Amino acid sequence: METLTLTRPDDCHLHLRDGPALAAVLGDTARRFARAVVMPNLSPPLTTVDAALAYRDRILEALPMGADFTPLMTLYLTEATSARQLTAAKAGGVVGVKLYPAGATTHSDAGVGRVEAVYSALETMQALDLPLLVHGEVTDPAVDVFDREAVFIDRHLAPLVARFPQLRVVLEHVTTREGVDFVRDARPGVAASITPQHLSMNRSALFEGGLRPHHYCLPILKREPHRAAVLEAAISGDARFFLGTDSAPHARGDKQSACGCAGIYSAHAGIEFYAEAFDQAGALDRLEAFAAHHGADFYLLPRNTGTLTLRRGAMAVPESLPFGDDRLIPLRAGGDVAWQVAD
Ligand code: DOR
Ligand code: ZN
Repeated sequence: METLTLTRPDDCHLHLRDGPALAAVLGDTARRFARAVVMPNLSPPLTTVDAALAYRDRILEALPMGADFTPLMTLYLTEATSARQLTAAKAGGVVGVKLYPAGATTHSDAGVGRVEAVYSALETMQALDLPLLVHGEVTDPAVDVFDREAVFIDRHLAPLVARFPQLRVVLEHVTTREGVDFVRDARPGVAASITPQHLSMNRSALFEGGLRPHHYCLPILKREPHRAAVLEAAISGDARFFLGTDSAPHARGDKQSACGCAGIYSAHAGIEFYAEAFDQAGALDRLEAFAAHHGADFYLLPRNTGTLTLRRGAMAVPESLPFGDDRLIPLRAGGDVAWQVAD
């Protein structure tokens, strides 16, 4: 197969930032994806529906001319999130509420300290049928960074999913065999998004010939058997697994630093990386459902009607990309990706 025409895909987990950074990256996503679930971890975080909808307007204003792209907004969950805010969010078209354990990752300081402290908000979300999107890592410094997802599932996610049996839950950017197994064995309404980096790289990619800050994201890359489990879930055809790039741009200097930020920018080849991985696994026929059907179905949205055609053939990735006044180092910088958008 040399070309592949898909229903236009959705990116079910994306960081777009704001201001000049937003303007720099948005076109990459809009060219490929019809919609994206946009994360609320701005500074300050989007804790109110008014803030989320104002951000939505800024995204629409920043779209390149002629782009056909719909941002799907999320709310940032705190221990102070009220039932009134959640009700207004649902009415305002917000598609999900993001739980960041406080301190787990970029701009998560305002997140949740004790998961039990948001149980009443989760009760409201369950009643509203407003999905919970979870960054599934404990922040306990005693837990090894490579174990934080598995421990989060045992300590927090499994009890939460049992306690709120109707709440729809996404384990975002699943990275481990334990995470994949948890979703597979869970009740209906539990799903996971999968990033291109966790499909295609293991933790050795952090240390290839030296320290590789541009491969650092959270949750961190895991051992090879975990990568294999994540890939297997993605290509399985199981509707509980869907595409979410977690493309997370940071300026070059913020990554190449004594204390570098977590986040990998992948939107410049946001569908191509998946096509390459599915192709290598002999599963190109499963890409469309993973990229365009499963996420829409989970979010109870109509599937997209347009199409996107991909073509086999090496696409060179630039060494860096413009990022406002700064530069951004994209995933696979200076290398190439085996598939490209055809048009
Ligand atoms: O690597 C990450 N970067 N993980 C996250 O959870 C947040 C993201 C970001 O916003 O940069
Ligand atoms: Zn993210």
